[in-house]
Amino acid sequence: MSFTLNPLSEALGAEIVGLDLSRPLDKPTFDAVHQAHLDYLVLVFREQDLTPAQHIAFSERFGPLDIHPADDAVLTEHPEILLVSTRRENGRYIGLPDGGPKWHSDISYREKPSLGSMLYGIEIPEEGGNTGFANMYKAYETLPADLAQAIEGKRGVFLAGRNNAKQTFRRTLNDAQKAKTPPVSHPIIRTHPETGRKSVFANEQHTIAIEGLPEDDSDAILSELFAHCARPEFAYFHDWRPADLTFWDNRCALHIADLTRLDDPAYLRHMHRTTIQGDAPF
Ligand code: SIN
Repeated sequence: MSFTLNPLSEALGAEIVGLDLSRPLDKPTFDAVHQAHLDYLVLVFREQDLTPAQHIAFSERFGPLDIHPADDAVLTEHPEILLVSTRRENGRYIGLPDGGPKWHSDISYREKPSLGSMLYGIEIPEEGGNTGFANMYKAYETLPADLAQAIEGKRGVFLAGRNNAKQTFRRTLNDAQKAKTPPVSHPIIRTHPETGRKSVFANEQHTIAIEGLPEDDSDAILSELFAHCARPEFAYFHDWRPADLTFWDNRCALHIADLTRLDDPAYLRHMHRTTIQGDAPF
């Protein structure tokens, strides 16, 4: 099978046109997609028509899937699919309406954070609801010397944003879900297990402290690091079209959702996400 690949920005991201992911890709095509994912960090597959089972089957080619700790925001028949959705039934959100209000890497609060996530746009608003992506290889390669020195060899403490009393969400975790997401620590500079490249691995939504530092010092370094990682030249903001499937690498890229229209009653954004498990960072 052949496809066309169009880079989307200087920072990261490529569009893939001409592939039908509802059917299994042959090995050469799968290998080419895999390589493109490593090269561009974010892939946007256009014009997909996927059932949950087909979405899951494509995702599983990359590894086993995670079940999100908000296990009441998943599809009942397919718990591997997280509902990222502003839809309400009986006055209650059916999924997570506010996935990703800050730059983050999915489930970076697990011992084994995610390899990558696949988000499928089913109902897309005419305006708003973009997803931003940022290249953390570039963030690492351009660290100011004093900041690089401050985080050299350090580990971050990671906690689910929905399990952190300092963060506010429309839907939080219940006590049982919170108990299953205790804090973990990871190196702040990690090496990608496939490319061997180093990247910054810390994010505003889940990294709450630097291990072993006084709180004030830790907060000051993290806020400088988060500002550096959010520099516009590392980022691409994806303006969704219905039937886009985006696939990002959580090991070397951050993402953020535009939630500015969340309170607009006319705003409907309905998506399915799979989250592929990865390795413990080193
Ligand atoms: C997420 O953080 O996985 C959701 C991103 C989005 O809603 O754009």
